[in-house]
Amino acid sequence: LKSNVEVTAPGKLMLFGEHAVVYDRPCIVSAVDQRVHTEINLLSGGKIIINAPDVGVTNYESTLSHIGKNNNLPKGVRFVEQAIITFTDEYHLTNGIRVETRNDFSAEFGFGSSSAVTVGTIAGLSELMKIKMSKKQLFNLCYKTILKVQGVGSGFDIAAAIWGGTIYFVTGGKVIKPLNVGDLPIVVGYTGVKADTPSLVRKVADIRSKRFESVEKIFDDIAKIVKKSKELVSKREFEELGKLMNENQALLKKLSVSSNRLDRLIDASRQAGAYGAKLSGAGGGDCMIALCSEDRMKDVEAAINITGGKVVDVKFDSEGLKMHSRL
Ligand code: PMV
Repeated sequence: LKSNVEVTAPGKLMLFGEHAVVYDRPCIVSAVDQRVHTEINLLSGGKIIINAPDVGVTNYESTLSHIGKNNNLPKGVRFVEQAIITFTDEYHLTNGIRVETRNDFSAEFGFGSSSAVTVGTIAGLSELMKIKMSKKQLFNLCYKTILKVQGVGSGFDIAAAIWGGTIYFVTGGKVIKPLNVGDLPIVVGYTGVKADTPSLVRKVADIRSKRFESVEKIFDDIAKIVKKSKELVSKREFEELGKLMNENQALLKKLSVSSNRLDRLIDASRQAGAYGAKLSGAGGGDCMIALCSEDRMKDVEAAINITGGKVVDVKFDSEGLKMHSRL
């Protein structure tokens, strides 16, 4: 058996279709060039040792029979533990392991470090244990892990971490279709506020239970936008795509998931000449995205900075899961 593997997986940004994708509608997600690195070593004893210096965890020790029981661990580490549990429910693991994770980006941005570290842990363990897994099998185990830890989610972030690129995705991986896109002229602005995705998903569930018909109609309208964007994004018809971003944002506002900060950054980008702008992800904070012509990017960046946002430099359509193993 190999005794060491390093897996890297990309973070992601949602382009179209957030929230509706939790309810059997499609979305479009793109992998970004900021990655999570997960290194796994097999140990001769039975210990499980986790290092996640980015969230202040050093040499956290446990054993297979004890992991998953400490609720005080930082979020990233809970995903690593649950990923190990999901893996060992399915496959035999006799060795101990050491897991070390490192992010290219701050977990604050909402780029999906939890999904990327989950993918890294399960892909790494299967490589070390010589278990052949298709991308879809890997997706299913990772999705199960995410649901165990946070209870809700469509799994779009897992698909982005595994496949990379830009993907048309339907809830739970019912459809995972890579689109041929390339990097996109999108400016990303961070609001400075960390959003809690599960509570925003629950908020939408609550609104849906009270206004079922109208919320379902909003989801259907979002699905139409996603389907149109799927055609336009491959043709790189950015002006039309920008309009669809604005329409998508208007519908997200109806779901009450935008915020004043997001709205201000979105308005500022549009005024600075972006084709269109919207929040990206659960809303409430995290990041907004603005699609613009190449010659407007600097103006849009300046507008975001002046309005109190922080421009985050990312490339889109980045490579999926990558494995480097050593003997
Ligand atoms: O907050 P993010 O970037 O993880 O995006 C959440 C997107 C939702 O559609 C709201 C939830 C999901 O799992 O699809």
